[in-house]
Amino acid sequence: MAVYKMTVNGVSVNLTADDPNTPLLYLLQEQVQTSGPKFGCGLGQCGACTVLANGQPIRSCITNVVDVAGATITTLEGLATPAGPHPVQQAFISQQAMQCGYCVSGPILYGKTFIDANPGATREQILNALGKTPLLCRCHAHNRMLDALVLYSQGKTQ
Ligand code: FES
Ligand code: FES
Repeated sequence: MAVYKMTVNGVSVNLTADDPNTPLLYLLQEQVQTSGPKFGCGLGQCGACTVLANGQPIRSCITNVVDVAGATITTLEGLATPAGPHPVQQAFISQQAMQCGYCVSGPILYGKTFIDANPGATREQILNALGKTPLLCRCHAHNRMLDALVLYSQGKTQ
């Protein structure tokens, strides 16, 4: 059993695994009890398991724990608190952009990362950026999510 030290949502944790290739997602769910990243496909094809590793979105279902040892991990709930959501989360709430919410780690974390690096990005630019990586939503809420990301890009939440 090896120990992998990292920071998850601001807290220093020691994740343990027999296999260094254990997916980060499994350990986040089993040992840290995160609720944001979800198991969707397990193949890197949907984005439901997205987390930020050192500020960049990764698919935790296909990320081996050994490859993120020492990293700073932020999950969807680590962006802010339920009482004080992050502005991008507030925009998703105001646009009722989630239906079931299962997929939402992907659109929010990929969208936030792109917009933070490209403030004022247009709807088309956001769509093009997010279109480069599969982000699947079985509730078909993509358009409302895009509306929310455009608001966030404009510095608005509603
Ligand atoms: Fe990781 Fe689908 S569960 S990309
Ligand atoms: Fe249900 Fe996207 S809101 S899967």
